[in-house]
Amino acid sequence: MTAVSSQASGRTSGGFGVSGEEVAAQFPVLRNRSFDGRPVVYLDSSATSQTPDAVIDAMTSYYTQSRASIHRGVYPLAAEATDLYEGARTRIASWLGSSPQETIFAANATAAINMVAYTWGRQNVQRGDLVVLTEMEHHSNIVPWQLLCQDREAELAYVPVTSDGFLDMEALDSLLARGPRLVGVVHVSNVLGTVNPVASIARRAHACGAVVLVDGTQAVPQLPVWLPELDVDFYAWTGHKAYGPTGIGVLHGRRALLEEMPPFIGGGHMIRTVAANESTWTDLPWKFEAGTSQIAEAIGLGAAVDWIQGLGMPSIRAHEQALVAELLERLVSLPEVPGVTVQGPLAAADRGALVSFTLDGAHPHDIADILGSSGVCVRAGHHCAQPLMRRLGVPATTRASFAVHNSPGDVDRLVEGLGRVRSTLRLD
Ligand SMILES: Cc1ncc(COP(=O)(O)O)c(C=O)c1O
Repeated sequence: MTAVSSQASGRTSGGFGVSGEEVAAQFPVLRNRSFDGRPVVYLDSSATSQTPDAVIDAMTSYYTQSRASIHRGVYPLAAEATDLYEGARTRIASWLGSSPQETIFAANATAAINMVAYTWGRQNVQRGDLVVLTEMEHHSNIVPWQLLCQDREAELAYVPVTSDGFLDMEALDSLLARGPRLVGVVHVSNVLGTVNPVASIARRAHACGAVVLVDGTQAVPQLPVWLPELDVDFYAWTGHKAYGPTGIGVLHGRRALLEEMPPFIGGGHMIRTVAANESTWTDLPWKFEAGTSQIAEAIGLGAAVDWIQGLGMPSIRAHEQALVAELLERLVSLPEVPGVTVQGPLAAADRGALVSFTLDGAHPHDIADILGSSGVCVRAGHHCAQPLMRRLGVPATTRASFAVHNSPGDVDRLVEGLGRVRSTLRLD
């Protein structure tokens, strides 16, 4: 186990250029809701983030000023809506170092990963082939590959997780030596918080001829992500955990692979020509965007990306890392709550903005329930990672996840709340 980093555990609010209160004040739910006269402590951004005014305003503006369908109409309103939608794509792409052609909108990360499994997968994975995942994947990056491998009679193998919450890289190398078709890996684990070395994994996997898909769902809102540095083939993420609306996710793909892949869903907008018995496909990225798009949602996600960039991703990372370091210090190095076991790496530098833990004698649901009854919102359950729960030997954990609006006062409320859990459940 690595020592707890006490780095930046002071009571600053990060280098946003505005106070923590001013950042928090931009979230309507945090402004509008209180609990017994105290602010709600929202520690569940890894499930879904709160939405800042800027995102809601951008979507409202589309609905009240610019609503029209996109791509098909030639009148000015339709052109304006198209510009808003495609403008959002361009800004989202350039934020992560991708291109608009390689940036496909999907319903969420799950849909983005399924797109790859159903199109690239069915074209490239044959009987007896190997697909490699890791033990710390979310079900979204497991079940689509199970369906594919069952359909193709292909083999699925998992890179084990070490006892300190990292991927076993030697085991990865042994699996790579068998020449898998694809390696699927989560960038930041939604349970352990582990930040996986995806650039290094991609280098090793490419050397063995494998295609690499990264689930960047937790990473995009928590870390500076620059896709050219990672050099992976597919990178999927979701809008609603990145301060954007629900109903939109993104798949970034390597252009050469996207060009070769068949479409996922057929219908309007993704075709070039349609004859009675066959069709041809339009250009990227629209080949993968059949039907009327999530117009307001894409515009909202574009606004979310602008808003994140306004705060600065390095500042967001520093702010959240400081909160994680403080929580780790208070739960692990100078434990204030007896019986807590933190899952995953114990240095904030190795983690994203979340901490999962168990408390001896308490079920995670009871912990979340008691915390919730004092206005502290945390998630309890298997976090859609049942194989990882089995590896950890626990049925469930409690997870606190941080965002830009959280403060050291929120860590205080969580730790105080855990004391109350102990007394309510008579664990003393
Ligand atoms: C690591 C990870 N991958 C994928 C997902 C799925 O995201 P969505 O439900 O938005 O598709 C989640 C959501 O919890 C997640 O944490």
